[in-house]
Amino acid sequence: MYSARWVANGRRFSVPFYISSFAALLGVAFLSAPEGQFGLFGQLSQPEQTAQHIRTSSFANAASDSALPSTVRQQIADTSGTSASDADGLQSLSGDEPAEALSASYLDASRTDSLVKMLRDPTNPAVIVNKQNPIAAHGYVPQRLVNIQDYGVPCRGKNNQLVPEAAAALAQMYRAAQDNGAGFWLLSGFRTESVQDRLYQEALAEDGAKRSAKPRYSEHQTGFAADISTQAYLSVSFGTTPAGIWLAANAWRYGFILRYPQGGESVTGFEYEPWHFRYIGVASAARMHESGARTYEEFVGLPAAPQY
Ligand code: DAL
Ligand code: ZN
Repeated sequence: MYSARWVANGRRFSVPFYISSFAALLGVAFLSAPEGQFGLFGQLSQPEQTAQHIRTSSFANAASDSALPSTVRQQIADTSGTSASDADGLQSLSGDEPAEALSASYLDASRTDSLVKMLRDPTNPAVIVNKQNPIAAHGYVPQRLVNIQDYGVPCRGKNNQLVPEAAAALAQMYRAAQDNGAGFWLLSGFRTESVQDRLYQEALAEDGAKRSAKPRYSEHQTGFAADISTQAYLSVSFGTTPAGIWLAANAWRYGFILRYPQGGESVTGFEYEPWHFRYIGVASAARMHESGARTYEEFVGLPAAPQY
């Protein structure tokens, strides 16, 4: 049988060929593993990968993103730390928050714990807006809104603004999508209550408002939601385009979630919208991805909200 033979310190060594070949293969696997992962031996567990991803992808990092114009980087630097931070995300959900604590009365105004505050706060990327949880303030407009074109993302339509955290994340997501042959446009970002009212009335006349939320019940009013497309209109077929497929698989890396997934209507109250992405922050989106939850309601442990 073939074997590898050598002499060391006056002693002869002989290792059968199949063992030495296997050892060499393991060496190659080890050396070629991506940084921080050790191939066959030490693959990072899913929570470790998530933690690593969160560490390298915070909003504050966008301030040194050289692909963004310097005025935008300055804007991000000025905003970091002043607005609701997404650095920690919804930690308590993956920590020691007991599942039993989450119930239909979870968002009772009387609840004061920090998670409930985050979920009720329209300035927080964790805010929940659904048919049971409207934005509390009438006429709410985010204090800071930026133009998406300034962040290098092509736009169509008139509602081209997002809050800075979501805009910076969208810009990074756009560039990665483009690098993967999955470029897109922003069709609609922040919408005022009156714009939403008009869209809702139009949808009501057309199809019974299956697609459009009532004013104050739309995430678009928070500046954290983005309708993304590669065509002039919003269609289910977007889900099967390169952009739709890439976004569904990768948006979480940039802090976005597909808010109205296929089959989620009984929970979200809306049909499948492969174009509607909601920024919840990198930490929370990574944890939601890791949890395998299908909808945001299920991730935060809130009851289904199929009806107003
Ligand atoms: N299309 C989503 C549900 C909205 O109108 O906010
Ligand atoms: Zn939308």
